[in-house]
Amino acid sequence: MSVTSAPSVVRPAARLHGSLELPGDKSIAHRALIVGALSGGPSSVTVRTPGADVRSTPDCLRSLGALVEEVADGALLRFTIAGRPSRDATVDCGNSGTTMRLLAGVAAGLPLRVTLDGDASLRSRPMERIATLLRAAGADVTTTDGHAPMTVAGRERLSPVSHQLPVASAQLLGAAVLAGLSAAGETRITTPGPTRDHTERMLAAAGVGVRREGSVTTVDGPARPSPLSLVVPGDMSSAAPWLVAAALHPDAELTVTDVGLNPTRTALLDVLRRAGAEVEATVRDVRAGEPVGDIRVSGGGQLAPVTISGTDAMALIDELPLLGVLMAATGGEVRGASELRVKESDRIAAMVAGLDAIGASVEELPDGWLVAPGSPRDAAIATHGDHRVAIAFAIAALTGVAGSVELDDPECVAVSYPTFWADVAELAS
Ligand code: S3P
Repeated sequence: MSVTSAPSVVRPAARLHGSLELPGDKSIAHRALIVGALSGGPSSVTVRTPGADVRSTPDCLRSLGALVEEVADGALLRFTIAGRPSRDATVDCGNSGTTMRLLAGVAAGLPLRVTLDGDASLRSRPMERIATLLRAAGADVTTTDGHAPMTVAGRERLSPVSHQLPVASAQLLGAAVLAGLSAAGETRITTPGPTRDHTERMLAAAGVGVRREGSVTTVDGPARPSPLSLVVPGDMSSAAPWLVAAALHPDAELTVTDVGLNPTRTALLDVLRRAGAEVEATVRDVRAGEPVGDIRVSGGGQLAPVTISGTDAMALIDELPLLGVLMAATGGEVRGASELRVKESDRIAAMVAGLDAIGASVEELPDGWLVAPGSPRDAAIATHGDHRVAIAFAIAALTGVAGSVELDDPECVAVSYPTFWADVAELAS
């Protein structure tokens, strides 16, 4: 995989035109690799230019004794998975919260003792919620003052329980569902708001009795998924910077192809349409229950202010940093997103500081921000090593919402989007 090095300063682009294929969807890739390992295999999961986060999952599965091989074919990386997790281990989840929480659910349902650890950012994120959930099903879980390292001593047979999640989190939901594969009966999970439903779609495609109705997901255990063969679609959250850029830039027309169009992930398209951008999405395929297709966005028009709150905030959780940048041009607000404070960084604090630095007028709220446009300025941005913050401010610079932007850690984009700077070099002129 060729990696264009990050520029020291990102400058406004005269025009943004072109078509691109994105890294494979992180959420789907983690789940496909895990479901592949639980099936016993052989399974095949192909991911375009996977970032460090996606690569954490096969590394952990190998530590647990599954056989995971990888073969590169140009930009594609094909993982072949055989054998189930079968030994006690300490696993390094790197920066990946999804790896840690989903594997905690897997470990709960196996007669293994697994310690899950990660980098400094992941060690600062809340793990007591997941520990509580898995203890309810019968696993023995200890955390380090509510954080990683977290040790899960699982059991071959868990209790079928009814969970009421404290937050609308697909990671918690996914962990409860994966643990439910080892329960003797029906596990039922109620969420307080909408979450992405990739775990359900993937397991249903692998023959497991799993259903989502409104805010309730149920899974029938015990169950073992069938082996799968999947080419993971492109990641909507990596398409998002380009969709927002195209909407903002006066001379832009961008197309992304082969991207996941799961309706629990496409709220950004509705926001951009509401703001007045021209957005066209076309489904061309369905893979492992996931709709896949193309999106075209053209910009140039005057955009209306954007307001995000309530369930919309949860559906847009990974896109809110980019929407902060959009709001620095249009004005707007985010409320109901306090979960942003416990992502890879405190994304409310990081975005408010950065938006202020690029010249917007911004007020920090406990659960979001209020933004009014100002005069774009050159700025040095503290990314806090957070890929979504770095990408958001790169887009601010490319679209002229900021002046020139210097990122303190431009390489951190590789967590989700290792080819980001190559795509910037190709699309921006
Ligand atoms: C994810 C769920 C979301 C999201 C994360 C990926 C997943 O986190 O922010 O990037 O794949 O389940 P929460 O479950 O904390 O909302």
